[in-house]
Amino acid sequence: MTKQETYHTLLPQIESLVAEETDIIANMANVAAALHEAFGFWWTGFYRVENQQLVLGPYQGPIACTRIPYGKGVCGTAWQRAETVIVPNVHEFAGHIACSSASNSEIVVPIVRNNQVIAVLDIDSTDFNTFDETDQLFLEKIVAFLEF
Ligand code: SME
Repeated sequence: MTKQETYHTLLPQIESLVAEETDIIANMANVAAALHEAFGFWWTGFYRVENQQLVLGPYQGPIACTRIPYGKGVCGTAWQRAETVIVPNVHEFAGHIACSSASNSEIVVPIVRNNQVIAVLDIDSTDFNTFDETDQLFLEKIVAFLEF
């Protein structure tokens, strides 16, 4: 399956999965698991904005940093810009926070509600150049299903 085909299959599954449940933690956990399983990413999960920091939320993958300041790393940059950040090579991203040395590329999708970033979806890959506009398009659709 191509990346598009995988997302096309996944999208209605995730939509109905989260529509059946109102608890946001449960929904973030299942979205992380669904994406992680479908694509075999290295790390897939959420950070939530809590007291002016990003705090680790539900995820799949190895242990990660628990708190990320505003504007720091790829996650803090996506929060600051309030737009998706795609990093083809994390070693070339100034300020990248290496939770794991195995990660080589990354995408971070901010989740915006009432004009405020309230969380981010962060995905890491061990391959370089994993993420592109297709991922951005579908991941932005997926996070739009989440009701906080
Ligand atoms: N690499 C991220 C930190 C989070 S971990 O990848 C799970 C960053 O630079 O913000």
